[in-house]
Amino acid sequence: MSESFDVIVIGAGPGGYVCAIRAAQLGMKVACVEKRATLGGTCLNVGCIPSKALLQSSEHFEEAKHKLAEHGVNVGPVSLDLARMQARKAEVVGANVKGVEFLFRKNKVTWLKGAGAITAPGKVSVEGKEYAAKHIVIATGSESIPLRGVEVDEKRIVTSTGALELAQVPGHLVVIGGGVIGLELGSVWRRLGAEVTVVEYLDAILPGMDGEIRKQFERILAKQGMRFRLGTKVTSAKADATGVDLTLEPAAGGARETLRADVVLLAIGRRPYTEGLGLEAVGVALDERGRIRTDAHFATSVPGIWAIGDAIAGPMLAHKAEEEGVALAEQLAGQKPHLNYDTVPSVIYTWPEVAAVGATEEQLKERGVAYKAGKFPFMANGRARAMGELDGFVKILADARTDRVLGAHIIGPDAGTLIAEIALAMEFGASAEDVARTCHAHPTLSEVVKEAALAVEGRALHI
Ligand code: FAD
Ligand code: NAI
Repeated sequence: MSESFDVIVIGAGPGGYVCAIRAAQLGMKVACVEKRATLGGTCLNVGCIPSKALLQSSEHFEEAKHKLAEHGVNVGPVSLDLARMQARKAEVVGANVKGVEFLFRKNKVTWLKGAGAITAPGKVSVEGKEYAAKHIVIATGSESIPLRGVEVDEKRIVTSTGALELAQVPGHLVVIGGGVIGLELGSVWRRLGAEVTVVEYLDAILPGMDGEIRKQFERILAKQGMRFRLGTKVTSAKADATGVDLTLEPAAGGARETLRADVVLLAIGRRPYTEGLGLEAVGVALDERGRIRTDAHFATSVPGIWAIGDAIAGPMLAHKAEEEGVALAEQLAGQKPHLNYDTVPSVIYTWPEVAAVGATEEQLKERGVAYKAGKFPFMANGRARAMGELDGFVKILADARTDRVLGAHIIGPDAGTLIAEIALAMEFGASAEDVARTCHAHPTLSEVVKEAALAVEGRALHI
């Protein structure tokens, strides 16, 4: 007889492994299927964690090279040991993925090693063995979107996975796609000495973010030396022994041109990964973009089969996948969790960082919502001056009638940490005045958030 579980989760990324742990905490018998050699999914193995390790290391390199002298710290000639930097990144990833294995053991989650397929409702096969489950959770994540005419070999033409593994700093890195991956990994290699050109189809980088932030971010990155070819598409990229020849074309049509690169990073978005799961045979419906169709409670079109994370609709973010994992586990245990998608923050871990939560000005205008905007620059903040980090601002958007915070957009030092305060404020339904009247420690960057909240009523103090 096949072994049976209350829940079998397929995929051990931040959605799947967190769902498995929470379900086990709530007393369920849980297994998690993962085909990768290590747990943690895209995020821990080839996504959030290795990219942040390289961002951190390359930031230190740039600081030592260009910023420390300004502070009166002379370090002599600075050189790059890329092999050590990559080894450190591997150590960071190793510690994180082992941590998940430890948590599985601690919570008695069984790791079923191999690729899982759903053979029928309540039945999962892994490497030829069949298991039974009351509930099956699909958390199989996403993969990078291919581009016709651009064949990825993960050496000269790479996705983010190859871009995290380069053994040499490319002379010229061409990034296709001015989104989150392109700008983060483009920043890493620019700091380490590459010339970086970002080719973006649209007229501005970072679609979906606040328009003012997009413009300012592009200016700051350009000042750092990143080159942008906006409104341009890549029609082909051909690798040879020493590099890649790209053909570019204006998005609106027009004369073609060629560009030579040492390495090309293809980063035009990610799409749900559901290959080999057997969804069609079992009747799990997908939407028009290949995402697993779910209702507000993560139920797919087949009773007893649920889905979360990058494989379903919504922002492809690790913390969104985690919250869904927790909410689903609690729901399966009979609780009534609620997930507020309006307060899911997003962060770009460049320097300066970019962070956002809630609506953009463009969205509020489109929805016809009357709002007030309060804005405050880091330049006018004592701590930012002490740090020598003067670029950027905090912008808070509040309902014109009720003063309720509807969104916040930050570009500047530690924006990713600062946004948490606004996410919490929004979760509590706070007004801009609530944020403004909260005592913020001096001298901290968080005072910029307070001042932006004060600025909503035109009452900022230090400008
Ligand atoms: P995944 O993490 O993709 O995990 C799915 C797992 O399922 C994989 O391990 C896969 O091997 C496994 N799997 C698939 N099919 C099967 C099968 N049939 N059987 C067994 N196992 C299977 N997000 C952030 O919030 N912050 C960041 O800083 C960030 N940085 C990123 C940087 C990069 C370079 C990339 C590529 C992504 C980044 N993301 C970031 C996005 C984040 O990684 C994803 O949103 C997150 O990993 C989604 O989690 P998930 O659990 O849905 O899927
Ligand atoms: P993205 O959706 O962020 O950006 C893709 C960009 O490519 C867009 O600007 C788009 O207009 C452009 N594009 C599309 N087709 C193109 C073409 N043919 N030629 C030129 N440009 C084209 O996708 P990206 O950067 O690949 O990242 C995928 C996802 O991974 C993100 O959406 C995000 O959810 C997640 N991620 C999150 C991170 C974070 O939270 N810090 C870091 C890295 C990834």
